Amino acid sequence: MTENVLITICLLLLCTIVFCDISNNEIEQCNLPKKIKDEIASYAPVVEKIINETVYGKYKGTTYDHLADFIDKFGNRIAGSSNLENAIDYMLNKSIQFNLENVHGEKVQVPHWVRGKESATLLEPRYQSLAMLGLGSSIGTPPEGIRAEAVVVKSFDELKNISKKVKGKIVVFDQEYVSYGISVQYRDYAASTSASYGGVATLVRSITPFSLNTPHTGWQDYNDNITKIPTACITVEDANMLRRMYERGEKIVIELKMEAKNLPPATSRNTVGEIVGHSEPQKIVIISGHLDSWDVGQGAMDDGGGAFLSWNSAVILKALGLRAKRTIRTILWTAEEEGLVGAFAYVKAHKNETKNLNFVMESDEGTFTPHGLKYSGIPDVGCILQEILNLFPTINATQLQQPADGAPDLTEWLQEGIPGASLLNEAERYFWFHHSAADTMDAENPEALDKATALWASVAYIVANLSFDMPRNSTDYLHKV
Ligand SMILES: *[C@@H]1O[C@H](CO)[C@@H](O)[C@H](O)[C@H]1NC(C)=O
Ligand SMILES: *[C@@H]1O[C@H](CO)[C@@H](O)[C@H](O)[C@H]1NC(C)=O
Ligand SMILES: *[C@@H]1O[C@H](CO)[C@@H](O)[C@H](O)[C@H]1NC(C)=O
Ligand SMILES: *[C@@H]1O[C@H](CO)[C@@H](O)[C@H](O)[C@H]1NC(C)=O
Ligand SMILES: *[C@@H]1O[C@H](CO)[C@@H](O)[C@H](O)[C@H]1NC(C)=O
Ligand SMILES: *[C@@H]1O[C@H](CO)[C@@H](O)[C@H](O)[C@H]1NC(C)=O
Ligand SMILES: *[C@@H]1O[C@H](CO)[C@@H](O)[C@H](O)[C@H]1NC(C)=O
Ligand SMILES: *[C@@H]1O[C@H](CO)[C@@H](O)[C@H](O)[C@H]1NC(C)=O
Ligand SMILES: [Zn+2]
Repeated sequence: MTENVLITICLLLLCTIVFCDISNNEIEQCNLPKKIKDEIASYAPVVEKIINETVYGKYKGTTYDHLADFIDKFGNRIAGSSNLENAIDYMLNKSIQFNLENVHGEKVQVPHWVRGKESATLLEPRYQSLAMLGLGSSIGTPPEGIRAEAVVVKSFDELKNISKKVKGKIVVFDQEYVSYGISVQYRDYAASTSASYGGVATLVRSITPFSLNTPHTGWQDYNDNITKIPTACITVEDANMLRRMYERGEKIVIELKMEAKNLPPATSRNTVGEIVGHSEPQKIVIISGHLDSWDVGQGAMDDGGGAFLSWNSAVILKALGLRAKRTIRTILWTAEEEGLVGAFAYVKAHKNETKNLNFVMESDEGTFTPHGLKYSGIPDVGCILQEILNLFPTINATQLQQPADGAPDLTEWLQEGIPGASLLNEAERYFWFHHSAADTMDAENPEALDKATALWASVAYIVANLSFDMPRNSTDYLHKV
């Protein structure tokens, strides 16, 4: 499999990726003109002010508090639900209340999948209820369920090896966790691959490095020309147990019942607010996160934290009277979980602005203690960002890595070469919670959110106010500034 295919899997289907650290290159030698370095250094006082106000002062704890109010009020917010639309109305209201400008929603048609009741029960070699979650876009079973013998495979190769035994069976995948980006292919393609050999349903080990018997859901894709079969995830613990039983040669029989349904597409909205630029308003810096979530847990971490980090950054800049030269636009994306649906629609509708997108940011890989940024763009972008990050020693957020892989909704723009960034944070435990019942406010921390907000707001402001545009192409361009 080529790296491109992996990157596409990575960027398209998730909220995040881990394997991309293979491309964490050292930033090349920077020789930015002194004029540019001095200009960036001149932002030290405004950075100090934003940090002061956000981490210690008037706005201390506000990102967490706004997020907690929102999460406790709405809980989880899957695309197609009235809950998500109510949450969007609330954010539009709140954006107006906190003086953001040009506040509006932009309509987009989104998938509408509903889970319904579901269960998986081990009947042989003994009775046990298996913790499970149907995967997004899965069809349901007949009302009486599917009762079948199971085979257990670790990989698509192993499945191919035993393909003659698969007809009429439930296929259990107990693939190992390598990284999210690599292992998630089993969630994505288990159903269609198994159906091509006559399998009747699939149960996939949850894509997580750590488990307390919690299943983790996520989107999956059916191939167009293959029979659709029901597919769900089970826990790491149960996948391991089924593997042991299978290797002992025990007959495994499972009954799967799922009411899941794909309803006609629904109308949702991307939620937009701005601080209009004072002298080059047509040029735009975007700060964003996605407002939708899975239908389990609360979506506090994925991506409540990222959404509120971006939204509250705009609120704080506005309240501090920090209007930049360029427009700062906050976008709360919709239907990220169903395959970046809100973002793709937005990119298409805003082609007229692509040339004016100066810098794009999204946080969707956790809002744990921040360490800096991850960026995409030409090396000069990295050189500029490193100068900016050098202003953050007091909150220990001076590190720069690449690429900006915690920003799934920016995929198309980043691929077009538009410079952008995601939040570099202590995300080692991100996939412990991701897409599970454990994604609650307890995964968030007020101090970490304050630091991340101070960093995010400052970087957006500085980039939006610099005398030169973020470079997209020739390195000469910068040196002529
Ligand atoms: C930040 O706060 C410290 C301590 O309260 C104060 O000395 C300093 O002047 C403040 N800096 C800015 C830029 O507001
Ligand atoms: C929005 O605000 C208006 C007036 O301030 C209020 O009547 C309405 O209930 C609010 N809607 C939501 C969804 O909060
Ligand atoms: C497939 O079967 C062959 C022959 O039995 C075996 O050598 C190989 O290891 C198997 N591969 C997998 C992935 O199970
Ligand atoms: C079935 O569809 C998939 C894409 O959905 C495609 O990659 C594959 O080649 C098709 N297979 C056949 C046999 O047409
Ligand atoms: C670009 O298109 C969007 C969406 O149709 C519209 O709202 C916006 O005003 C347009 N911007 C410019 C600069 O023409
Ligand atoms: C600062 O962050 C680095 C990782 O970027 C970490 O190793 C170090 O312990 C942190 N220092 C403090 C004082 O928190
Ligand atoms: C923003 O840029 C303007 C020049 O365009 C400059 O005068 C101003 O000082 C900058 N703001 C800050 C806080 O440095
Ligand atoms: C190169 O980037 C600069 C700044 O973003 C832009 O003004 C210019 O049009 C770009 N040139 C090409 C050939 O894309
Ligand atoms: Zn996400």
